[in-house]
Amino acid sequence: MQDRYYDLVSERVRRNMERQSPSWGGAARPDAVPLNYGFPYPESYPLEDLIEACATALREDGSEALRYGGGPLAGEFDAMVADRCNERGLQVDDENIIVTNGSAQAITVVCDLLIDPDDVVLVEAPTYMGALREFENFCADVRGVDMDDDGILTEELERILADGVRPKFLYTMPNFHNPAGCTMSMQRRRRLLELAEEYNFLLVEDDAYGELRYDGEDLPALRALDETDRVFHLGSMSKILAPGFRLGWIIGPPSLMEQGDRLKVDGGTGPFVRAMIGAYLREIDLDERIIRIREGYRRRRDAALRALREYMPEGCSWSEPEGGYFLWLTLPESVDVTVLMEDIAEAGANPLAGNIFFPDDRGRNNLRLSFSYPDEAELERGIRAIARVTAGQME
Ligand SMILES: Cc1ncc(COP(=O)(O)O)c(C=O)c1O
Repeated sequence: MQDRYYDLVSERVRRNMERQSPSWGGAARPDAVPLNYGFPYPESYPLEDLIEACATALREDGSEALRYGGGPLAGEFDAMVADRCNERGLQVDDENIIVTNGSAQAITVVCDLLIDPDDVVLVEAPTYMGALREFENFCADVRGVDMDDDGILTEELERILADGVRPKFLYTMPNFHNPAGCTMSMQRRRRLLELAEEYNFLLVEDDAYGELRYDGEDLPALRALDETDRVFHLGSMSKILAPGFRLGWIIGPPSLMEQGDRLKVDGGTGPFVRAMIGAYLREIDLDERIIRIREGYRRRRDAALRALREYMPEGCSWSEPEGGYFLWLTLPESVDVTVLMEDIAEAGANPLAGNIFFPDDRGRNNLRLSFSYPDEAELERGIRAIARVTAGQME
């Protein structure tokens, strides 16, 4: 954005713009397989049911559906979300849940509530780039804690804390991590809660993918294990229904949630959309829907893993996620993906470069592949293209 207003843009925004460089893969070719999108696959959208729900919302709530605040059906949606969360042990009552414009806005509410400039925020390294950018927008001092296949390394976290680092909060994705694909073990969940209590910081648990498990057993959410009311839990309709509705929520300590609600200056979260989805959820069985779409994701994940095994050159490794949308590919140290993104796009795939998921300069030999959107044949074509370019570079 080297235009005539550049000098007027704040330093904070300039830093954010630097994160959006072409190494994202954002400038890639439109005919390349979209392994970058964290989107549901298009056939998963229940279009006919939603047309019906839209008409029901208008018929039933009439003009109230269209005012600030909405009508009864919007309230029904909120109540259904709270009930579902309580079924998962998330300790919800009327006072401690806020419905937000996607879980992205839930992250903003947390930042608004908690971050003063230069506050330390700990994240898993790697972490969700949207959250990372938002923490940086709020001028936090963001530091990464390493992970392995069982999630955040609590021993490493303990060392950081014992060295005197005092975070305001730690942001984590215990289930089906974006981008790493891993799930935090039960032992680490408990240890993380203990450390949060011992060193008195808050936890922000982002569970955008929590209901999309394809193998193994569900583990309890951090908030369900939390006895000291220090976990904010973030949820979303985006991955189990559709991101275009922009519906998410945040559950947290009641005293802070009251203030969070006051800080959220947006005229209320989509009252009409809430009414429409309230009408939709009344008519369908959401659990059944989730079981059905999981099948579509499981097939895609398996196709992607098959292609990786078949085509990737020796010396490369990848996560084997039990759920969610993402595979995390590790290439040999000698490969720098940031200079390969154009070649990969040219060869026919649009993954994301790993470095954008780190608060520091790591991730240059990683790629994030999202398997949620392309079909199985496209996944094979895209992964084959990545393998071809990687092998060429390794030679
Ligand atoms: C981990 C994580 N959190 C939050 C979001 C934001 O999702 P939404 O605002 O659509 O709920 C995403 C989107 O991809 C995500 O991957």
